[in-house]
Amino acid sequence: MPETGCLAAPAGCADCQSRFAILGTVAPPQGVPGGALDEGKLSITDSRTGSEYELPISSASVRAIELRQIRQDPGEFGMLSYDPGFTNTAACTSRIAYIDGAKGILRYRGYPIEKLAENCTYTEVAYLLLNGELPTRHELEAWDTELMEHSRVHENVKKFMDGFLYDAHPMGVLVSTVAALSTFYPDAKQIDSRSNRYRQQLRLVAKMPTVAAYVYRKSQGYAYPDPDLGLSYTENFIHMLWSGTRRQTNERNLKVLARALDTLFILHAEHEQNCSTSTMRQVASADADPFVGVAAAASALYGPLHGGANEAVLAMLDEIGSASAIPEFMRQVKAGERRLMGFGHRVYKNYDPRARILQRIAAEVFEITGKNPKIDLATQLERIALEDDYFVKRRLYPNVDFYSGIIYQAMGFPIEMFTVLFALGRVAGWLAHWEELMSDPEKRIARPRQIYAGPGEQQFLPIDERLSKARAEVT
Ligand code: ACO
Repeated sequence: MPETGCLAAPAGCADCQSRFAILGTVAPPQGVPGGALDEGKLSITDSRTGSEYELPISSASVRAIELRQIRQDPGEFGMLSYDPGFTNTAACTSRIAYIDGAKGILRYRGYPIEKLAENCTYTEVAYLLLNGELPTRHELEAWDTELMEHSRVHENVKKFMDGFLYDAHPMGVLVSTVAALSTFYPDAKQIDSRSNRYRQQLRLVAKMPTVAAYVYRKSQGYAYPDPDLGLSYTENFIHMLWSGTRRQTNERNLKVLARALDTLFILHAEHEQNCSTSTMRQVASADADPFVGVAAAASALYGPLHGGANEAVLAMLDEIGSASAIPEFMRQVKAGERRLMGFGHRVYKNYDPRARILQRIAAEVFEITGKNPKIDLATQLERIALEDDYFVKRRLYPNVDFYSGIIYQAMGFPIEMFTVLFALGRVAGWLAHWEELMSDPEKRIARPRQIYAGPGEQQFLPIDERLSKARAEVT
């Protein structure tokens, strides 16, 4: 199986299965920092003209702009690469996350996700993502203190949130509130200053739990408590969620639940150029401030094909109801009538390593909360799917969303809150990519091309002479 796509078959080549060969980060050549080695040339012959071209290869890729020299006649614009859904396009060079989708490997800044999930706190991992290296004990204490100091939000934020209807979807409230924070911090527009960028990163990581907890409390009709600066980042989040409500927990259980949530945030923290992170980079490429960038990224995350899948998994399990309904459900999936939510991934063609860690966390959480009966249904679905030819052939495995929702539900979160919790963790990754982009000498405004397939120049008709053609198509 080749590591990169087959140029001959942009839509997927039966021989090399290049559609399935998009396996994550393209690794630099062994032992070559940044992969700057000249790795040779790609020779192309244009059968239309007989012309030959040599495109330099670096890090197992060619620069798309090199294709522009390929023309039938000198007046032509030049050849484009066509890649709907960006299945085989590297849009940047990044040093943040490494994924080997074939082997099921995920590393943040070179550290295996399993080690980070086992040994670190979420704030430690956020520091790693944002600064490039794990903090010393002293650095972590200073970072944690700063985060807690910035965890409050302006009182007007609460008034703003009160304007939403009682049944507003928490993700809609989160996206709007984070975007609104941009108006509270106009200095965030000074994106060229590293120290100013640091201040905005601090604010966003610090305030996300507060906003997320208030989103929850708004949906339940509870008042908004202040952060407790004496608690850790995630313990304080739980305090803001449940304080003054009937949902109380003893200190030992609080520690276990906080640790489980912390680990979930670590697993959600970063995943290279996924839909929401690419959105963050896209918006930031126009020099927009990071608050609106994070709001845009969170909007992308809201989609059921992305972070919204954890919510969709629970809805699916509810709909299936019992093991006896699995065969009919699987029939529909295999007939292409629906998808098995929480399964499949653009990059992982092996078990998502995060899903494996989540199985362990589920057991720890259930010891305190009692078992969520949906775990049995999910496990059965997984077992059946992993043995079924349809899933095996397409290399569809459980992804991070398959189990996360079941754990969140056991902890007492309504399903509409699941993607909010995902966003809380992912904010560190979005901001790490923002920082990387802002200091990238290759940064340019993101502006893809298109292949125009619409009409040529049309004759303009005054309004009373037009026939209602477009309308006829949609009705
Ligand atoms: N259930 C059934 N079939 C599936 C599934 C699924 N969950 N996912 C992919 N397939 C099938 C497709 O029908 C297609 O089959 P075909 O070749 O016969 O047409 C093949 O597998 C390839 O699927 P694509 O849609 O081309 O894969 P793509 O990389 O574009 O999509 C995605 C990836 C969106 C994650 C997809 O697998 C999916 O919809 N999964 C369900 C939603 C989900 O769990 N999303 C969360 C992803 S993790 C995250 O974002 C945090």
